[in-house]
Amino acid sequence: MAKISKEKNQNKKKIASKEQSTHLLRIAIQKSGRLSEDSIKLLKECGVGIANGNNQLKIKTENFDAEILFLRDDDIPEYVADGVADIGFVGENVVLEKNKDTQIVERLGYGRCRLSIALPKSKKQINIQSLEGKKIATSYPVILKKWLRQNKINADIHIISGSVEIAPRIGLADAICDLVSSGSTLFSNELYEFETILKSEAVLILGKQLTQKRKELLEKLLFRIRAVKKAKNNKYVLLNAPNNKIKEITKYLPGLNSPTIVPLAKEGWSSVHSVISESDFWNVIEKLKEAGAEGILIIPIEKMIE
Ligand code: PRP
Ligand code: ZN
Repeated sequence: MAKISKEKNQNKKKIASKEQSTHLLRIAIQKSGRLSEDSIKLLKECGVGIANGNNQLKIKTENFDAEILFLRDDDIPEYVADGVADIGFVGENVVLEKNKDTQIVERLGYGRCRLSIALPKSKKQINIQSLEGKKIATSYPVILKKWLRQNKINADIHIISGSVEIAPRIGLADAICDLVSSGSTLFSNELYEFETILKSEAVLILGKQLTQKRKELLEKLLFRIRAVKKAKNNKYVLLNAPNNKIKEITKYLPGLNSPTIVPLAKEGWSSVHSVISESDFWNVIEKLKEAGAEGILIIPIEKMIE
């Protein structure tokens, strides 16, 4: 523990001591781990050029006035709260656990996972009350404690900083409370997910004081993030239909404003272009087919700006 906090303080000094580039937005992301790749991908899709990392603590971005700080995810809320970074891309689970003075400005839709209580496969529990008096190993004591209190369960929390999943096997705990994403860690440790206590995804957090210039940069970045997110949640659809079916077909196609209808060379036929949402995608496609649409093409959208 002492070693980690010493390293953290040295990092903080290193970041702060270099010339203070007040015109750059300082963005903290996870150095390596579940969220690193997707965070870099999102930033790149937003036109923030990031040279391939060569294990640096801080790099200046291309095409956007920003610096990327590569940190341990657990440290990101603190760096943002202390103003060493302006914003951070981090799991909501970490934000809630660390409970620092930051606010969530945007949910990012990737890094979805859950914080769950898991038990050895050999131990079948009937309900959450059977956790009473048990020893639970976790790296999330704050969230777990709150959940236990809300559910009026008295259990013994055993704080471990890594490899929580092995605790039951070595007799350190009866249960664990840890992040589950694919479930493979639980599976390979002969544990099963007993109860989910939190659902999480990556979020963008913000500290308190930003200079005017940094505020403007954040607005610019947020605008781009929203355009990328929106594009991902929508698909461009192209289809052909006889003119007498167009009215019925367009009922299912809201489009950005309304669908575009273009006559085809084939007499009495038109091509219809529109945008549909990913969430009810298959329902809409089925209805379009039933209504007489043919040659339906679905195309991913790269950016969407209204
Ligand atoms: C979490 C958790 C498990 C793993 C679960 O660690 O501690 O080890 O992910 O994922 P799975 O269900 O897909 O196997 P994380 O990557 O967040 O690392 P960290 O806790 O060290 O930040
Ligand atoms: Zn972590």
